[in-house]
Amino acid sequence: EFVKAYAPATVANVCCGFDVLGFALDQPGDEVWARKSETHGITISDIKGIENLSFDPKENVIGVVAQKMLDTLGLSTGIELQLHKGMPVGSGLGSSAASSAAAAFAVNQVLGSPFTVQELVTYAMEGERKASGSAHADNVAPSLLGGFVLVRDYEPLDVVPLGVPLELYCTILYPQIELKTSLSRSILKQEIPLKKGIRQWGNLAGLMAGLLKKDYDLIGRSLHDEIFEPERSVLIPLFKQVKAAAIKAGALGGGISGSGPSIFALSASMQQAQAVKEAMEAIYAGSGIETKTYVSQV
Ligand code: HSE
Repeated sequence: EFVKAYAPATVANVCCGFDVLGFALDQPGDEVWARKSETHGITISDIKGIENLSFDPKENVIGVVAQKMLDTLGLSTGIELQLHKGMPVGSGLGSSAASSAAAAFAVNQVLGSPFTVQELVTYAMEGERKASGSAHADNVAPSLLGGFVLVRDYEPLDVVPLGVPLELYCTILYPQIELKTSLSRSILKQEIPLKKGIRQWGNLAGLMAGLLKKDYDLIGRSLHDEIFEPERSVLIPLFKQVKAAAIKAGALGGGISGSGPSIFALSASMQQAQAVKEAMEAIYAGSGIETKTYVSQV
C-alpha cells in the first residue's frame, strides 16, 4: 500500500536571513503518496488540490526528486506517486519545496530508508532546481527538518537545524497576484553598501541570539531587512501598510515570505497571531485583490 508523507509550507527568507534562514509552519502543507509498482520507472497517477500541474515525472518536481534518488542508488524500481497539494504555487510559501520534501521522504520510506532525513535535503533540492532553476535549500531544509534551519553554506552544503527554541506563531497573508521568483530576483542590486551589510549581519546575529536565548524582544528588534525588502516590496501592493498594521497589532516583526507576494508576521502567542491576521486582512479589504490568510504555529 501507499506510504504517505506530509511536508509543510516554509518561510524563507526570514528578513535579514535572506537566502540563508527559513522556518517551517505546521500547515498548510502538501502530501505525497508513494508505493512500489510493476511499471518500470516513475509514474504520477494522481494530482489533487490543484489544476495544471504536469503528470510527467520529468516535469513535476516530485518525479524529478524520486528519479534522482533512484539514480543515486542505481535502482530501476518502479514507483507510483500521487500528489495532494494543500497550498497555492507561486505564493512565496515554499510550495514546490513542500512537494519536493514530501516526495523525498515518501520515496525514502518505500525504498527502506537508505537515506537519513538530513541527506534527503540534497534530493529535495533537485525539485527546487527544476522549479526555479536554482537548487536552493532554504525552503526544503526546514520543510524536511522542521523548525528554523540555517543554510550556512552550499560548498559544501552545511545545513544547521535550530529547532523551535521558543513558542512562535506565524500569520501569512497571500495576496493573489502573480509574482514570479525570477522577476523578484532579477530586480535585486548585486552589490551591498558596507553600511547596510553591517546592519544586516548585526540583525541576523541578533535574530539567532534571540531565538537561542528565547528573547522575544531581541527577536523583534532584529527582524529587519534593509537591503532586499525595500527593493522587492514595490512589487507587492500595500506591503508597507500591511507590515505596519501587523506590528501595530502586536507582531514581533515580519516581512516578505520567500520571494513574495505573501507577507508574514511572527507573534509570541496564537491570540496575538489571530489579531495580526485581522489587522493584515483589513488593509486589503476593498482593494479588489483577493487574499488568503494562514495562521500556524512555527
Ligand atoms: N530565498 C529566495 C528568494 C526564495 O528570496 O529569492 C526562496 O524560494
